Amino acid sequence: MDHFDYLDGAMHVEQVPMAAIADAVGTPVYVYSTATLTRHVGVFRDALGALDHPLIAFAVKANPNAAVLATLAKLGLGADVVSGGELLRAIAAGIPAERIVFSGVGKTAEEMRLALEHGIFQFNLESEPEAEMLSEMALSMGKRAPVAYRINPDVDAGTHAKISTGKSENKFGIPYDRALQSYAAARDLPGLDVRGVAVHIGSQLTDLAPLEAAFVKVGALIGKLREAGHDIRTADLGGGLGVPYDPSEPLPPSPADYGAMVTRVARGWNVRLMFEPGRVIVGNAGALLSRVVRVKQGAQAPFVIVDAAMNDLLRPSLYDAWHDIRAVKPAAGRGAANVVGPVCETGDTFAMHRDMDVVEAGDLVAFMTAGAYGATMASTYNSRALTPEVLVSGDKWAVVRARPPIETLIAGDSIPDWVKD
Ligand code: LLP
Repeated sequence: MDHFDYLDGAMHVEQVPMAAIADAVGTPVYVYSTATLTRHVGVFRDALGALDHPLIAFAVKANPNAAVLATLAKLGLGADVVSGGELLRAIAAGIPAERIVFSGVGKTAEEMRLALEHGIFQFNLESEPEAEMLSEMALSMGKRAPVAYRINPDVDAGTHAKISTGKSENKFGIPYDRALQSYAAARDLPGLDVRGVAVHIGSQLTDLAPLEAAFVKVGALIGKLREAGHDIRTADLGGGLGVPYDPSEPLPPSPADYGAMVTRVARGWNVRLMFEPGRVIVGNAGALLSRVVRVKQGAQAPFVIVDAAMNDLLRPSLYDAWHDIRAVKPAAGRGAANVVGPVCETGDTFAMHRDMDVVEAGDLVAFMTAGAYGATMASTYNSRALTPEVLVSGDKWAVVRARPPIETLIAGDSIPDWVKD
């Protein structure tokens, strides 16, 4: 559920007309709803209500905007980070280090040092060489790093190949069958406190079965590790729960279904459970607001050329992702259209032959469910300015990232003397 609703025929975000934001800030612009963020945190937390103080660490990569992170910090969430930059963003937004977990296959020594200095809750390690590097760094700082190994359970998440992470051929985690050896080696590293198991098999999962299969493997491993003398105290079950994008598709499992499954599968594990939800917290809390530049006749359906492009919202070109596209003020019935951006690539296509509100030049459209992996994946391709972001709460709204003047982009480059002469 979100808070983008039609009032008197015009889309509002909470109590603010989308058109008012477009007029004041210009388009394209990302618009986020605080009420939706708050609701989703509540729903996810309630779904885990039967568990003993789980750590809900928001996957910062899904939406790293400072105002969004600060909102989630106020709601008590932790953070799952995958870079030094995300770590600093999370801390700057008020997320305490003791609620931060550091994931990722390529943590550098410098990033490890930063995270150790801040005293984060846990490192999720993904290889033996990484464990060795972290142990050395921790020792050199007179510390012991709290760690889990992320295991690769060799489970097919059944989602898009580019966002599947739990098959043995994927780069993530340590092979399940080698886990006991990897843990034994890590126990001998004096800079590490080996205390957990982690798993994350992919994103936008629309079926609980692969998640359950992976969690069952985590449970079995916890038992084997304890038999081998490891003191396992945490289990991080990752993120991955899907959200509804296409209203004509069946609904993905609800957080409540997910929570019930976790509660059942993890019974008796006797660990602190951790979660890294991203999309399910922020996905439906954001929309990309864009204006139709012109409508051009095509060989079949008309091309609706909007001022947003693949650099602003990459998901359709990268994953063939489906985002609902709605007129902010529907006025002319429905019809088929191809919705494209101005970037010079055929892949700059948001939808082909889409049955949608008929729109004309100057109309506003909203790309729904764009709060996760939207602005965060934007680029300046075609020398387009980074997309600004707005946060709404009730009848209040604020620009939470301004549109940089294009001069800033140009001024970022420099021309060496030998080229100038
Ligand atoms: N934990 C880890 C270790 C992850 O790699 C991810 C996402 C998450 C948690 C959060 O997953 P979520 O709950 O959001 O599914 N750009 C893609 C999604 C990439 C996801 C990467 N990892 C997209 O736009 O669909």
